[in-house]
Amino acid sequence: MSLPKINPTTTKSWSKLAQLAKDPKTLQNYFADDAGRAAQFAIAWDSFFVDYSKNHIDKDIQAALLGLAKEAGLEDARKAYFSGETINQTEGRAVLHTALRAKENADIRVDGENVVPAIYAVRSKISAFANAVIAGERKSSTGQAFTDVVNIGIGGSDLGPAMVTEALAYYKNHLNVHFMSNVDGDHVLEVLKKLTPATTLFVVVSKTFTTQETLSNATTAKQWLVDALGAAAVGDHFVAVSTNLAAIDAFGIQSKNVFPMNDWVGGRFSLWSAVGLSVALAVGPDNFEALLDGANDMDEHFATTPFEENIPVMLALLTVWYNNFLGAQSEAVIPYTQYLNWLPAYLQQGIMESNGKSVDRNGNVVSYQTGNIIWGEPGTNSQHAFFQLMHQGTKLIPAHFIGFVDALHGNKDHHDKLMANFFAQTEALMSGKTEAQVREELSAKGLSGDALEKLVPFKIFTGNKPTTTLLIDKLTPKTLGALVAMYEHKIFVEGVVWNIFSYDQWGVELGKQLATVILDEMDTSSPVKHDSSTAQLLARFKS
Ligand code: F6P
Repeated sequence: MSLPKINPTTTKSWSKLAQLAKDPKTLQNYFADDAGRAAQFAIAWDSFFVDYSKNHIDKDIQAALLGLAKEAGLEDARKAYFSGETINQTEGRAVLHTALRAKENADIRVDGENVVPAIYAVRSKISAFANAVIAGERKSSTGQAFTDVVNIGIGGSDLGPAMVTEALAYYKNHLNVHFMSNVDGDHVLEVLKKLTPATTLFVVVSKTFTTQETLSNATTAKQWLVDALGAAAVGDHFVAVSTNLAAIDAFGIQSKNVFPMNDWVGGRFSLWSAVGLSVALAVGPDNFEALLDGANDMDEHFATTPFEENIPVMLALLTVWYNNFLGAQSEAVIPYTQYLNWLPAYLQQGIMESNGKSVDRNGNVVSYQTGNIIWGEPGTNSQHAFFQLMHQGTKLIPAHFIGFVDALHGNKDHHDKLMANFFAQTEALMSGKTEAQVREELSAKGLSGDALEKLVPFKIFTGNKPTTTLLIDKLTPKTLGALVAMYEHKIFVEGVVWNIFSYDQWGVELGKQLATVILDEMDTSSPVKHDSSTAQLLARFKS
């Protein structure tokens, strides 16, 4: 079974949705007309409460969106996704990040072989290694305990571990974990300059072990270590995570220090694999395992819950509604916790690398919008940055607000202020402020006549701006795992509906190829063959 290949625009539900989109109602009217609205458009699951009532949706729109999911073949697609079918068709691979967090007694087959026992063997190896480093039992070449860990990787080999390590900072141990991703040597040397070779452990993470940035950074780091401690130290200070065992060997990392991963896990979905080694080092293997458990809980929810009560399904269908019928180009993700500072960047790769496609599963150029632009920053910082545009600008920006009932350090005064802003913003975006309210407010401040009239238009908020609120009890490894898995499944559902392949990323190749050509030209006097703008810029750089 592979994924269905249905052009969504040919479905009855698509036509119905196009019709419904012509008759827009305001959020203010929806709420005024229906006292039960908030409860109707909300899903309570585990410690998650997802309120999507402040969206441009009613029963008819919801029914048509659910109809679209059915007509797009989501039921069958979901089965194919979880059962190891080759749904990454253009690369000829299964997509099994869900297997990485499956229960130990699960039976998930790739080419007839149950992959779960091998996954658990790697999980045990991660736990044993992380415990030994944390306890100081795994020593450096000088016999010292490690104090610092440097994760060298980029894209999915960096963003997942970096995002989770920051998100779970509250649960961290004494190890200082650093991330080196950009090939920017200034950054590499800034990271190294703070470190002591004798107590630094490098984790080189690259699914392919061919990525220019990662190999350059790892080579620089290796040289830095060798300069200080000699070539023999490399074996004790470098471990690797990859599918490419030959390349790791060539780099000089011993096979006992390799944590393998499989080709059926995509880079941007790989943090659950050995790619999460830096997370296990930072917060301990028990917390890493809890992260995986939380993701598995969300997998269960997604796999078994009817579509109308299924969080990833409903969130994905809302995205389709805004993206394809109401003209939204982007979606904002606003976490109200500084711990989730990296979540928008992480989701940018997950969502935009997956669904930024314009050829459908039949090989035809699509005639409709696909993947949207993801952006965001934590609140309340973002309120003082781009919220002006969200409140009074001209763009339609559906936004996810993610907040937690409990603060981790328990400072009630701060947490109440943070969450008061969280609730206030979604209410303000939805309700706005009418002309009558503006006049009343200005009069109360003593303004009248011309002075009042001049200000009125600028102070009106139309409201009617859609938001979805995810209120979660507490930020724990488990709830974080569930939250990230929720977005992974949302990506999948969107891709199924849009009839695109979400698990390849051919679009990143061209730039890489050209960079290789240009890099060669930097060293030679051979004539450069480029467009006149690129040639002019190169000439200036080389002069
Ligand atoms: O940016 C393209 C990409 O292939 C991502 O999908 C991936 O996460 C990243 O590069 C890093 O790849 P690797 O882990 O193979 O070094």
